Amino acid sequence: MKVLVTGGTGYIGSHTAAELLMSGYEVVIVDNLSNSEASVAERIARITGKNPAFYIGDVLDEALLDRIFSEHKIDAVIHFAALKSVPASMSNPLLYYHNNVSGTLSLCRAMHRYEVKNIVFSSSATVYGISDDKPIGEDAPLSPKNVYGNTKLMMETVLTDLYRSDPEWNVTLLRYFNPIGAHESGLIGEVPAGVPGNLMPYITQVAAGLRPHLNITGTDYDTPDGTGVRDYIHVVDLARGHIKALENSRGLGIYNLGTGRGYSVREIVRAFEEATGVKIPCVEAPRRPGDLACYFADPSKANTVLGWRAEKTLHEMCADSWRFAKSYYGKA
Ligand code: NAD
Ligand code: WQD
Repeated sequence: MKVLVTGGTGYIGSHTAAELLMSGYEVVIVDNLSNSEASVAERIARITGKNPAFYIGDVLDEALLDRIFSEHKIDAVIHFAALKSVPASMSNPLLYYHNNVSGTLSLCRAMHRYEVKNIVFSSSATVYGISDDKPIGEDAPLSPKNVYGNTKLMMETVLTDLYRSDPEWNVTLLRYFNPIGAHESGLIGEVPAGVPGNLMPYITQVAAGLRPHLNITGTDYDTPDGTGVRDYIHVVDLARGHIKALENSRGLGIYNLGTGRGYSVREIVRAFEEATGVKIPCVEAPRRPGDLACYFADPSKANTVLGWRAEKTLHEMCADSWRFAKSYYGKA
């Protein structure tokens, strides 16, 4: 089975491409390198001993997509290619709607032209936009609170309508919670552009001595220790969820991919220090605008229908994050 992985040199796409290759799938990557490096393709080959076909280009380029679908008999598409920064989406909405929504429309038109009707889509818990101290199920209200989340919900709607117009399509929407960690080889991982927006890449830069301390953004939330609670999931568990989706999801499927357990910022810092032996100095800072207190997944539908469950521990998430960062920042 040959799978086209858009955004395949990115953080989650590269880990998924590696898992696909190790599971016997053939992989074709297309990526415009707007937020990743071409060398990732070589590192995927070093990890797996197999070479994915690799096209540097944009999913908005329909001629390129025609070339890819002409040169390869694609059986399914996993669509990771998107811009993902919440703050950047608020200051540049047109770029985000064009890249994320128009990019998905371009991809779906190409799939339609070549009668490829199997797609797994990278959605996000950000489509829920709610804070809750109870696990969030797929039937929770959808109310994104930022442009990025709007693009994800719009793309879910496009794909759902596509399925309703032609039930021969298999459309799987995977709503990720908070992916962290890296492949155990230390060869691929999360490479944030500029100042990291997300918690773990910021922590690893503090650990690597690139930043003096972690700003804990919000210590007065209604949570056990006052800091934000999220459902952190190892990126390799997340990648394996995509393979289970390819194999077990038919028709229209919507699944939360999380562990079902929330951890606070302070718990993450403590876990990182215990896993790595590296102290993380912290400074209390104001809340980020739009940040939510607490959300974590009810993953039971993915557990039962997909036969998938997150298996890696928080210790592994922290240790694997640090192994990659040490190597990437030259601290190994
Ligand atoms: P990433 O930025 O590392 O990977 C995205 C990849 O897509 C990058 O390599 C980028 O160069 C590429 N890309 C972007 N626009 C493109 C375009 N128009 N044409 C071709 N390539 C393009 O991000 P990631 O963390 O791996 O996220 C992958 C997907 O998962 C995204 O759709 C993101 O919205 C979604 N997601 C991420 C998270 C998270 O916390 N990382 C959580 C939920 C959902
Ligand atoms: C986690 C917690 C912060 C940084 C974002 C996107 C979401 C998805 C995942 C794409 C929060 C706190 C953070 C820091 C901190 N991405 N924090 N200091 O905000 O849950 O979700 O990434 O789909 O769409 O919104 O993740 O890692 O930014 O924050 O204290 O320097 O860590 O306040 O409580 P978030 P995050």
